[in-house]
Amino acid sequence: MSKPIPLFDIRLDDAEVAAVEQTLRSGWLTMGPRTADFERAFAAHLGVEHAVAVSSATAALHLAYLAAGVGPGDEVIVPAITFVATANAVRYCGGTPVLAELKGQHDLGIDPADVAARITERTRAVCAVHFAGYAADIAPLRELCDERGIALIEDAAHSPSATAPDGRMLGTLGLASAFSFFSNKVLSCGEGGLLATDDDDVAELARSRRAHALTSGTWDRHRGHAASYDVTALGFNYRIDEPRAALLIERLKGLEDDVARRRALVHRYRELLGGVEGLTIPYRDEEVDRSSCYVMPVMVDDPALRDPLRQAMQERWNVQTSVLYPAIHEFTAYAGAAGPLPRSELAARTELTVPLFPHLTEDDQDRVVAAVTSELAELRQAPPS
Ligand SMILES: Cc1ncc(COP(=O)(O)O)c(C=O)c1O
Repeated sequence: MSKPIPLFDIRLDDAEVAAVEQTLRSGWLTMGPRTADFERAFAAHLGVEHAVAVSSATAALHLAYLAAGVGPGDEVIVPAITFVATANAVRYCGGTPVLAELKGQHDLGIDPADVAARITERTRAVCAVHFAGYAADIAPLRELCDERGIALIEDAAHSPSATAPDGRMLGTLGLASAFSFFSNKVLSCGEGGLLATDDDDVAELARSRRAHALTSGTWDRHRGHAASYDVTALGFNYRIDEPRAALLIERLKGLEDDVARRRALVHRYRELLGGVEGLTIPYRDEEVDRSSCYVMPVMVDDPALRDPLRQAMQERWNVQTSVLYPAIHEFTAYAGAAGPLPRSELAARTELTVPLFPHLTEDDQDRVVAAVTSELAELRQAPPS
């Protein structure tokens, strides 16, 4: 059997490992000066006023929804095709996630027309996910939200270093955005996240609530800058720590190169898979150069063939694939959360995510392409009964 080709792989260089080692030996592990340095660097990279590093994008989403005023009785419109965190964080606030359709098989982002149809007097926020690092259709969403005084939140978990068609950075287009630094993400440290905003009040809420709304942090107390503290609101432990912040500082330096390599690989996938019968490749070529290219989604037109194709690619070619994402209302915990959402359900049954990471070699990519094309051709000729 040929060597496995994983869906995702991470490689750390010597400078990244050294930065973490130095931090481990520094005697200070929880949130402190390295976290502040990373926040400054990421805010500068994005061009925003405030970057608040936290323990995950889930935490950042929770804080963003709280900052938007989401509470019991409120609704937040989120896409049905996303990681469950986008919806769960609404529930953490006591609110109700209202699931909206994606645009279609060519664009897996939330559909603004469907969002418009789901707005009620209880809608407090809309969350746009930049799926796979491709910009959601922000202009009409922004207009809808602005007209009605609704907050626009960006789930930018997939999209560091990506831009909207007007050139603005994703993650700077709404009231607040949430980035993920989970280990398989474009910018990764294991577990971590960040809330970005230009709004001073949102930033203040996030900084406070990430550490139990204490009036002084442990680093301040360590330096003797504060002897005691007050607790001003219900907060959480959403702190990141210094080894992860140190790793992120180093990895941020390589982000643009990593994204450039991802884009080149995606262009190559699109060339090699573009004409394959029975496959639809979402997004347009010109969108690739604005995307962070977090993952490579392809749509298997016949839903009956998607799972057999995944299985054959694994068993006969040793190529790992995934599905991004099952539809949220089809999870047990969200049963009954939405009526039929046919476009989202079709995407959930047809999407296939193939391997993509910056150091994927062209030889390995050729094997992935050969696996998809030959197995799909065979399955189309002799469909499973
Ligand atoms: C779209 C989306 N939102 C939110 C998250 C949550 O990120 P984290 O694991 O950092 O909490 C993820 C992670 O996979 C994601 O893909």
